[in-house]
This record gives sequence, C-alpha cells and structure tokens, in this order.
Amino acid sequence: MRPAPGSGPAALRERAASALLAARARTRALTTCVDERELVAQHSPLMSPLVWDLAHIGNQEELWLLRAVAGQEALRPELDPVYDAFEHPRAERPSLPLLPPREAHAYAADVRGRVLDVLERAPVEGGGPLLAGSFAFGMIAQHEQQHDETMLITHQLRAGPAALTAPEPPSAAPDAALLPAEVLVEGGPFTMGTSTEPWALDNERPAHPRLVASFFIDTLPVSNGAYLRFVEDGGYADPRWWRPEGWEQVRRHSLVAPLFWRREGGAWLRRRFGVTEPVPPDEPVLHVSWYEAAAYAAWAGRRLPTEAEWEKAARHDPASGRSRRYPWGDDDPTPEHANLGQRHLRPAPVGAYARGASPLGVRQLIGDVWEWTASDFLPYPGFRAFPYREYSEVFFGDGLKVLRGGSFAVDPVACRGTFRNWDLPVRRQIFSGFRTARDAEPV
Ligand SMILES: [Fe+2]
Repeated sequence: MRPAPGSGPAALRERAASALLAARARTRALTTCVDERELVAQHSPLMSPLVWDLAHIGNQEELWLLRAVAGQEALRPELDPVYDAFEHPRAERPSLPLLPPREAHAYAADVRGRVLDVLERAPVEGGGPLLAGSFAFGMIAQHEQQHDETMLITHQLRAGPAALTAPEPPSAAPDAALLPAEVLVEGGPFTMGTSTEPWALDNERPAHPRLVASFFIDTLPVSNGAYLRFVEDGGYADPRWWRPEGWEQVRRHSLVAPLFWRREGGAWLRRRFGVTEPVPPDEPVLHVSWYEAAAYAAWAGRRLPTEAEWEKAARHDPASGRSRRYPWGDDDPTPEHANLGQRHLRPAPVGAYARGASPLGVRQLIGDVWEWTASDFLPYPGFRAFPYREYSEVFFGDGLKVLRGGSFAVDPVACRGTFRNWDLPVRRQIFSGFRTARDAEPV
C-alpha cells in the first residue's frame, strides 16, 4: 500500500499544526456566533451547554498533549472532574461549576499556545507510540472536530433564528438520473480496517481479511422523497416493519416522520438551523434513528448493509484487489470529492459528487450523511485499546450500532474509509441517514 501522504518530521508537524488550527477556527465559529447567554444555556437535555464543549476541548488537549506527551504539570487540576465526560452525563453538565465563556475561551487558547510550543520540539518520529506519526496531535485535532460536530447538533436543536450561514452544496451531477439504483459487489475476501493510516483510532485497527458474500448496495443514499413514500404508505402505523423496541419508540413518542419534520397543510416542512423550509425530495434523508432506517429497509423489501459490506463497497478496488483509503482512491478528500467539514449546512442532493464515486460507481459514501449499518459496535480481531480504554473498548457490545462515512458536519481529519462511529439505535438528532442493501442470489 502506498504510504499515507506527508512523512518526515517537518511534514508531520506541519500536518498536525494545520489540523489543530482548522479545528480551532471551526470551534471559534461555532462559539462566537451566539451570545454568552446562549453559550451557557442548555438547548436540549441531550446536549451539553456549548461552553462545556469549549472548555472540555481545552482540557482534553491539556491532558494528552501537555501532560501525557510533554510531562507538564496540570494548569488547573480542579477543572479535570468538571470536564470529564465519563463523570457527568450531558443532562447534569449545566449544574457544574463551569468556566464562564470568556474564561473558557482563554483556557482553551492558553493550552493551545503551549501545545504549539510542544509540537515544535516533539519527537514525532521515534518518540514512542503516542508520538509516532504525530498521532497524539492528530487524535486531539480529531477530538476537537468531533466536538465541533456535536456543537453543530446543539445549534440544530437550539430554538430561535439562524446563527450560522453557509453556501449551498453542489447540485446533483448531470448523470444522476441515469445511475442504476444498485450495484453488485462480488463476494470474496477484502481487507477491512487499517494498520498503516497514521491517525486511525484504535477501533479501526488492525487491517484484517474479511469474507463477504455477494450483495447489492444502493448507488445513492435513501432520499427524502423515497422516505416520504414510506411515511405516506403508513410506515409509522404498521408494526410489521419495526423491531419491537423501535415500535415501542414510535408509540411512546407518537413518531410520524424524521426528527425536525412537520406537516403543514398538504406539505412536509423541516426545521434546519433555525430556518423552516419545505423538505427537499432529492436530498438524503437526515435525522432518522437506526430503527427508522431498518423499518424503511424492511418496508422496501431490503435491509441495511452490514458494516463489512459498507466498507467493502467503499474501499475495495476489484481491479487491484486492494482496499483504498477512500472510495475514489488514496488522495485526501477535496471539495470535489465529498461534502465534509461544515462547508455547507446540509447534505448535497443524491447523485452529487461524481468524482467521489467508488470503483463500482457507488456515490456519497463519504460525507453528506452518516450511514447506519446493521452491525453492532465490536472490536476487530487483534484489537488493542490505545491510548485509553474509554476511547472505544468500553463501548463494544450489542447496545450500539455502527455508522459509517461521515456527514457534512465532519471534518476530513475525522473521516476515512475505515472510520467507525457508533450510537444508540434510538438516536435521531445526529446527522444520520442510510442506504439499503440486499443479498445477491447465489449463482
Ligand atoms: Fe470529548
């Protein structure tokens, strides 16, 4: 496999510095577009106040880069328990003695200044596993970008007028209407996961062979228009399509459509970052739970792809037999390949990003919407927790479902063909959609 781009200490430091700077620019945009009252408010019991995320970003950066990597003393040891995500569930975070907004900004900036000094001298080659390939810096840049996605979810849940704006995404490619509905992925082994991607997290490792039987997968994510046919066919009133726990959710919360949708007169509207607008039929469906995705698939006579099927469709190149970093190849994502990085505040229409297609022609696997898979979040054979058990290992089991591919809200630094996200099957405030699959007839 071709080595990941940018090796050598100067290139590794440059890559780490620019990833950290990009993350901070995004954090600042998300935390300076509302006033201090909104920063300390809890906009939903599902989310932390934005000011908690801000200081937590700084605290994690201090823990890993100033203390673990550089061996420095704690700057503010009393902050550690306040910003420990495992100690306090989100619902109770507003009652903690949080740093006020100005102090939170100043603390995160103070840590960052010291980190950039550390990075200049850090032995990013030969400095042990935490530093190899500047991993710890990459892990912290990814952590900040993941919180930037979380903060964007908070913005979506926040009431009141729009605070964020962004240009519209590109439209569908001219050939979109001519694409086949599904493609056949031939059965056989492929390489799942990675052992070479320098900033891959522990749960993506190691690379290992995985045997997958032949299957068909949708060329495009399921659109709002397609999902609306399920809604209007009485999908939310028919227990045949639902897992028992999903049906329980439908009944208990009187669900009739994806989160943020409402019917007014004869039209379906949705709320998106403070703006109410007609549901666009050609956009990938967004804000559906795993149960809703699985119910739609059952209604359509199909199923969700397994995680291995999704990754094979996204990475396996039938011509070379090798797994690529991304569907389009090994090059890092550009705005031509995928809708990532909060450049746009919505998914692009289905059929966009022709240059991001896989060798078999599957589109929008990366970016736009996270895609629910059928699979539970489990370790790969040979998994080793690194650098701490709480990153992944404590979440393995049958209670959480894997999502793949990243959304418009994810930065490229935290999105790869191997990247694994996970969440509870009831979650729908996240930027989640899906595509469907089916078994291929044995030949
Ligand atoms: Fe965190």
